[in-house]
Amino acid sequence: MEHILIIGSNGLLGQTLTNQLCHSNYKVFALSKGANRNVHNKNYTYLEVDITDETRLLQAINKAKPNYIINAAALTNVDYCETHQLECDAVNVKAVKTLIIGAQLSQAHLIHISTDFVFDGTKGNYNEEDATNPVNYYGLSKLKSENLFKEVDIPFTILRTILVFGYVPELKQQNILLWLLDKMKNKIALTMVNDQIRTPTYVDDLAKACLLSIKTKSYGLYHISGTDLMDMFELSNRVAKTFKFNQKLISAIPTSQLNQPATRPKVTGFDISKAEKYLNFKPLSFTDALLEIKAKLNSKNC
Ligand SMILES: NC(=O)c1ccc[n+]([C@@H]2O[C@H](COP(=O)([O-])OP(=O)(O)OC[C@H]3O[C@@H](n4cnc5c(N)ncnc54)[C@H](OP(=O)(O)O)[C@@H]3O)[C@@H](O)[C@H]2O)c1
Repeated sequence: MEHILIIGSNGLLGQTLTNQLCHSNYKVFALSKGANRNVHNKNYTYLEVDITDETRLLQAINKAKPNYIINAAALTNVDYCETHQLECDAVNVKAVKTLIIGAQLSQAHLIHISTDFVFDGTKGNYNEEDATNPVNYYGLSKLKSENLFKEVDIPFTILRTILVFGYVPELKQQNILLWLLDKMKNKIALTMVNDQIRTPTYVDDLAKACLLSIKTKSYGLYHISGTDLMDMFELSNRVAKTFKFNQKLISAIPTSQLNQPATRPKVTGFDISKAEKYLNFKPLSFTDALLEIKAKLNSKNC
């Protein structure tokens, strides 16, 4: 039986991957910092490791003896990364270096997740050949992590993704969708920017893309996102409409009014034709993804 090791298994993508793999033919190891938060699914071995501890991470990889490693761990709070750059580098760059060493030692295929924030947001509809130019430290740290793969001699796949949304029961950090639902459920008025444009990614589709890259042995760089292009104001209105909340609670503002520590790229969005062709990646529409999440939330009575 082949072994698969999920790094960052407590996060949105990590938990989704662990759940998608629970009835698979793989022996699954899930690794994250702190106690296991994905307690509903018990069909795997949990390893509690801080990935910035090089020795403990290499020991864990040696224990799991993985054929595949999926790195879903990162410091993902963009403003926190801007103001805590050393900490950001330790997780988003140095730990990736250790993972590459671990993958080399166990001859594993390493799948690493990166971001649209490697781009400056002046072009939009980015493909894998477009020039990178991050406008904040989080984006720079992820670009540095991508560059670590330039000289490696193991099979690897880098999946860049955009604004990931979805539902798992026990998250420490809310994603955009859960944040919006929380506010709207409590009838709290909110402002959303109308000058940041994205193709949001349903986390279940991103998890499937990770597994498709294993199944199809697709190595190198791929862009993974949904195909619906929208600004954040439109996104929140579409969420309100699907979940039947009052759209009048939402008003539009420009990003400049937020005074955030980190600059955001204005227009990203991906051309996903390479992933469609080689990974057979077929994301749900934004509306279908929302309806699937709504059904999951209803079935859990949340
Ligand atoms: N979310 C997005 O919109 C988005 C957009 C583009 C790209 N991405 C990329 O997609 C990937 C998955 O994102 P996500 O949304 O699933 O992130 P997430 O929900 O923030 O999960 C990241 C996980 O990494 C874990 N982690 C952080 N530091 C660690 C450490 N030192 N040792 C062990 N584990 C550690 C976190 O643990 P704790 O829970 O204990 O903090 C968390 O469970 C990341 O590479 C991210 O950069 C995300």
